[in-house]
Amino acid sequence: MDRPAGLHRLLLAPEPAIAAPQEPMRRMPRCVHARSSLEASRQRVASGLSRASILVNAPASYNADPMAYLVTGAQGCIGSWVVKNLLEAGESVVVFDIDRQPKRLLQILSVEQITAIHFVAGDICHPDAIQQVFEAFPITHVIHLAALQVPACQANPQRGGLVNVVGTLNIFEAAGAHAGQVQKVVYASSAAVAGPPEEYGEAVFTEASSLHPSTHYGVFKQCNEGNARVYFAMRGISSIGLRPWAVYGVGRDFGITSDPTKAIKSAVLGRPYQLQFGGRADMQYADDVAKIFHRCAAARLTGAHVFNLRGTVLEVRDMVATIERELPRARGLLTHRDNQLPIVPDFDDRALRAAIGELPQRSFAEGVRETIAIFEQLHRENRLPIEELG
Ligand SMILES: NC(=O)c1ccc[n+]([C@@H]2O[C@H](COP(=O)([O-])OP(=O)(O)OC[C@H]3O[C@@H](n4cnc5c(N)ncnc54)[C@H](O)[C@@H]3O)[C@@H](O)[C@H]2O)c1
Repeated sequence: MDRPAGLHRLLLAPEPAIAAPQEPMRRMPRCVHARSSLEASRQRVASGLSRASILVNAPASYNADPMAYLVTGAQGCIGSWVVKNLLEAGESVVVFDIDRQPKRLLQILSVEQITAIHFVAGDICHPDAIQQVFEAFPITHVIHLAALQVPACQANPQRGGLVNVVGTLNIFEAAGAHAGQVQKVVYASSAAVAGPPEEYGEAVFTEASSLHPSTHYGVFKQCNEGNARVYFAMRGISSIGLRPWAVYGVGRDFGITSDPTKAIKSAVLGRPYQLQFGGRADMQYADDVAKIFHRCAAARLTGAHVFNLRGTVLEVRDMVATIERELPRARGLLTHRDNQLPIVPDFDDRALRAAIGELPQRSFAEGVRETIAIFEQLHRENRLPIEELG
């Protein structure tokens, strides 16, 4: 595949270093120069960005838009779809991620689209790294997704707390320090703030339900929701925390609830796959979730809000049946275990609909169909990653 020089450089760049070599000023985007405190910004960017984070890719043409979306964790699954939606809406996008390989972005975006993104490589745990991004770019909206998932938090709770909690504090601190510029922080909370089904009986889980997270990850997300409330009360920073349940689609390749996507990929490849859980789950298509993040970021809503999401709630056996219906040649390849995940599956999303209007929601069959189509296309082009299938 022919790649423009900028993207080539991005892909071949060495792993991010916290003390990375200084980037030459000519690589800085024009937006930095368009800001009023031009000289101060220049100095901060030149001496700062290179200290704790590094600008990996400066698009050749930047239209000096006074607005920019910062998407943290945008090399991940949801982030890639958020970036896709933002670019398609004509927004200016700054990606901040510790990972500098756009492997998920490359599965759903064209090379031309990727070269329009500003990539900053850095660790969300370093407050300087985040502050510098806000000084270098005219960030007006933040979509904060960078996090470690359940297994990583389980394996190393201290690191999990640093990334998921301190990293989120760093985002709010930087937003607070640029209060006149930043309109809103939208961050990923999680359905993992809820407890197992037996905590709630037959009741549907609403935003007023009590929280009983059963993992460090869920406790960290609950903590972020509390900190967001405090930031609004004390410093007037408006935020929306969204609670996805299980996101599926191209790019979902890690974490317990990535199994349905791995099952779809295995089906495309004609391989057997066993999903490691059973019972009921709420499946939310990545592109729908991304659109909701975008809508929330753009919504004129002040305060510190937290909203549930809801996709298609179904039995894992019905997921398998749906995949088999969409791809009959996969019949008999997919199996599943029986254990219910320890999160009540029935989430009520009426508060979110009341706040931002009707939401995009593909049926599970539609989401599976679109995912199969993209996987098949990538497979035909010899670009379908399969490492996560083992
Ligand atoms: N996928 C789901 O089903 C689901 C459900 C509920 C909540 N969420 C939340 O949504 C967000 C995005 O989820 P996802 O599925 O896209 O996750 P993902 O694991 O695919 O992406 C997370 C991204 O964060 C980046 N990251 C990790 N540590 C970092 C650090 N120290 N500094 C900078 N970047 C770092 C990773 O490199 C990765 O690109 C996360 O906050 C997650 O907790 C996801």
